[in-house]
Amino acid sequence: MMFGTDTIKKFETLETPFYYYNLDLLKKTLVALKQAAPPEYHVHYALKANANPEILRIIREAGLGADCVSGNEVKRAYETGFKAGDIVFAGVGKSDKEINEALDIGIFSFNSESTHELEILNDLAKKKNKIAPVALRINPNVDAYTHKYITTGLEENKFGINQHEFEHVAQLLQGSANLKFSGLHFHIGSQIQDLSAFKNLCLKVNEINQWFIKRGLFPEHINLGGGLGIDYREPDKNNIVDFAQYFKVFKDLLELHPQQKVHFELGRCIVAQCGSLISRALYIKKGINTHFVILDAGMTELIRPALYQAYHKIENISRSGQANTFKYDVVGPICESSDCFGKSVELPETRRGDLFAIRSAGAYGEVMSNHYNLRESAKAVYSI
Ligand code: LLP
Repeated sequence: MMFGTDTIKKFETLETPFYYYNLDLLKKTLVALKQAAPPEYHVHYALKANANPEILRIIREAGLGADCVSGNEVKRAYETGFKAGDIVFAGVGKSDKEINEALDIGIFSFNSESTHELEILNDLAKKKNKIAPVALRINPNVDAYTHKYITTGLEENKFGINQHEFEHVAQLLQGSANLKFSGLHFHIGSQIQDLSAFKNLCLKVNEINQWFIKRGLFPEHINLGGGLGIDYREPDKNNIVDFAQYFKVFKDLLELHPQQKVHFELGRCIVAQCGSLISRALYIKKGINTHFVILDAGMTELIRPALYQAYHKIENISRSGQANTFKYDVVGPICESSDCFGKSVELPETRRGDLFAIRSAGAYGEVMSNHYNLRESAKAVYSI
């Protein structure tokens, strides 16, 4: 059970909605990750999942690096104390300003996504008389078997450099005095629960790695991206993912040169389960075929159900364990029909003022919130 009686009592005194983070679970997750990762594997935490400074501080203290996809994420990581040499910067559309700032900080690697970007990076580094460390984001054309909006490693996706461009890229790198080729980067998608997708990725990586070595470009590091999925249905039973099983896939299948380092960029599986969106029932409304619970949180605080039809477990934590249950559509206050957290959710008979927890919201929750309808930002509250 995620919420004890004291925690719920404390929630009753707070203004809703807010994000609640169980920092103890976050720390336990980080310990499990460190224990499962072979010593030569280094994980960069993907800030895009949750860039809350308190969460970042704990992740940095656990010794992870930072994977960033915007200039502001690079700055946030740096200001939180991640070392420049532990920051990677990926993203399909880095602006000149963002590149310049990252060059000034002196980050570990630019994960470049196109030949055009390599040319611009070389020019900008030249102007500063610097050498930019570059990893190539490769599109391996591997299916992640996940939602189409969060699949990134297929040729039809906008991400990464495709195989037919390799020779051109190799020539470009060898002719660019202000670029230093340092590694290969892959990321096939997010919320991946079928580990065979990662197996297929390893097989592709082995081929591509060999191609670059033979071509005279030695990748000092291979970055396998992130994407390990979590259990949204059973957040208490499976609150920490099986990191050992995940790393084993790479340990078993990657064929690497002894000098090559292995990097990952995990986001969701580190932070998702420690966060819940806490909200109050404002109104109960009788519909034609259903009852609605109207919460004071909506798609402005957590957009995943509206955007990806994502499932999040919904609990009435004021009445947990009560036998008398009904089915409700649990919706938010926003003027959009898609502002619905769950349809036909079985819940105890709900009254105005009941507290609700929308679970597994620590990843891609607070960071994706917005001010539509001029809504205020939900605050963050940490384990009490
Ligand atoms: N590396 C790269 C290059 C990525 O694009 C991503 C996620 C990650 C690492 C981290 O992936 P993770 O371990 O968190 O799966 N907003 C969506 C997810 C978008 C993921 C984008 N890229 C959602 O709410 O499901």
